[in-house]
Amino acid sequence: MAPLSAAPEPDLSNQPKLRPVRDGLGFFGRFLKNPTSVGAVLPSSRWLARALVGSLDHIRPGELVVEYGPGTGPATEVVRQRLPQGTRYLGIELEPRFRDLLARRFPTMTFHQGSAGDVQRILADRDLPRPARIISGLPFASLPPAVQDAVVDGLVWAMRDSDCDFRTFQYAHAYGLKAARRFRALMNERFAHFERIGPIVRNVPPAFVLRYRGVRGG
Ligand SMILES: C[S@@+](CC[C@H](N)C(=O)[O-])C[C@H]1O[C@@H](n2cnc3c(N)ncnc32)[C@H](O)[C@@H]1O
Repeated sequence: MAPLSAAPEPDLSNQPKLRPVRDGLGFFGRFLKNPTSVGAVLPSSRWLARALVGSLDHIRPGELVVEYGPGTGPATEVVRQRLPQGTRYLGIELEPRFRDLLARRFPTMTFHQGSAGDVQRILADRDLPRPARIISGLPFASLPPAVQDAVVDGLVWAMRDSDCDFRTFQYAHAYGLKAARRFRALMNERFAHFERIGPIVRNVPPAFVLRYRGVRGG
């Protein structure tokens, strides 16, 4: 697969601190209740969140950034800081409690409670365009095949005939798991361009960021 060129990273020296301890406690509780769909014991660090979001400088007014599985919002905070004026954002989060927390924490941003696999219907219901960027915190290494398939089909719909870039992460220790390999094989079948960034070793646990672009045959 052809590599993607690396985008320049903006200066984040003014980024306010996230609240890792408080987030971590609530996040761990949700993990205990729904280990498969939450898929992690801790929210992502700011280092992983920055690498995952990348540059958003090219997003034009009216264009849409979609985030799958924002959780408690570490990547959402980076999106909030980097999103150019006049652009739009929608977070799609399965857990109602996370959705409510996100709505309180980011009052100027919009969150939908539901599954990322339903992206086509969700965007149509909200009269939103296909996204210019999709960022994902979904735990593909623990998601069942039917959910993986729905998410990948949704991505193909969302990214066909466009420059939209999809970015997700996988933990290094889970990279070789069957479900993680299944997801990457599906994505490699459907997308022409792939890049792996990292591992981001300052994240606990270390993780790779994966980028995909260019629907095959589209
Ligand atoms: C590994 S956590 C990542 C949370 C956050 N993005 C971070 O980096 O800390 C996975 C998140 O995906 C959400 N999730 C799982 N399956 C989902 C689905 N089908 N649609 C939307 N969100 C989903 C979980 O509820 C959880 O918030």
